[in-house]
Amino acid sequence: MKATITAVGGFVPSYILNNDAITAMVDTTSDWIEKRTGIKERRIAKNDDHSTSYLAVAAIENLIQSYEVDPLEIQGLILATATPDYILAPTASKICEKSGLLNAFGFDMNVACSGFLFALEMGATMIESGRYQKIIIVGADKMSSIVDYQDRNTCILFGDGAGAVLIEKAVEGYGIQKTILKTDGSGTDSLLVPAGGSKNPASLVSILHKKHFIYQDGSYVFKKAVASMSEVCNEVLQENEWTKEDIDWVVPHQANLRIIKAVSDNLNIDFDKVKVNIEKYGNTTSATVPLCLWDFKNDFKEGQNILITTFGAGFSWGAACIKWGVMRRRKNEKSKVNQLQSAECLS
Ligand code: COA
Repeated sequence: MKATITAVGGFVPSYILNNDAITAMVDTTSDWIEKRTGIKERRIAKNDDHSTSYLAVAAIENLIQSYEVDPLEIQGLILATATPDYILAPTASKICEKSGLLNAFGFDMNVACSGFLFALEMGATMIESGRYQKIIIVGADKMSSIVDYQDRNTCILFGDGAGAVLIEKAVEGYGIQKTILKTDGSGTDSLLVPAGGSKNPASLVSILHKKHFIYQDGSYVFKKAVASMSEVCNEVLQENEWTKEDIDWVVPHQANLRIIKAVSDNLNIDFDKVKVNIEKYGNTTSATVPLCLWDFKNDFKEGQNILITTFGAGFSWGAACIKWGVMRRRKNEKSKVNQLQSAECLS
């Protein structure tokens, strides 16, 4: 038995921070940012109340409403985030309450930019065990809460957003076929928020030294991201016995357009098959992959082969082969014969 994605939802805040606005904050140019990263603008949750849970609840609400999902049927919620509302009190608890997931357990998972893929694999194995039938995975990050808008190495890159998927039992032959997840502690010092955790608790000194903002050794992370994602994609394809010709779409983590292009070059995959929305949102950390699934949902057809790959702090990285399964019918979507048949298969 495999698990499959049957509904997707997403949310980005309405405030747009474009490259021109960033040039007023740090020594850079719009042209440099676009050429070196592919990013034109990012969304920012301006309202102080709009924390990570707010973004996640909005994405889940979008999923629930679009596909007319009964929130009381959901048995579990896994939140992938690097920017929880609080260090203690799980953000997932608040999300369950606010989204009406009153019969679901919920927990947070922090695997930075790889969080969504790791959470998807955890949820998928729970469905495959037969003990759970309906789990929501949400990737949400309010990166603006940890970005120093005086640091040109990082403030050009990140944005806020959330994406959610519902996973259920797949019709035979469909769904998440193979996932490989990797971690490597060698990357901890190259990409982190140095203070605020148990190693360097918050203090006046930590605040004065701006240790609560994200720090990144950009060019080192860049090289590791390209090498690791290329390698793990080849590995998962080989283990799943897919060749590059079998792939219909690649959905990569959106950190830098040049990273995405280098990985697709290394895999020798036509760039037309690679889904990219970094120009609109920047790097939304745990939300990049589900936001891509949400943005491009109309392109994914039943039976198509999708390769997902991520890389993030830790380092943490991975890849998954998905045979796109039967989606639930969207509200107002015209009924099709195959959708009715599919619904029968699912029930
Ligand atoms: N505007 C203008 N110039 C900038 C700049 C900016 N925002 N940021 C850096 N520069 C300058 C540097 O100072 C350097 O100048 P120098 O040659 O005079 O020393 C030059 O541009 C090149 O710097 P470098 O850091 O090598 O640039 P880069 O091409 O690697 O791009 C990043 C920087 C951050 C965009 C890129 O490294 C990156 O995207 N890294 C990985 C991001 C990532 O994947 N992060 C998360 C993992 S999930």
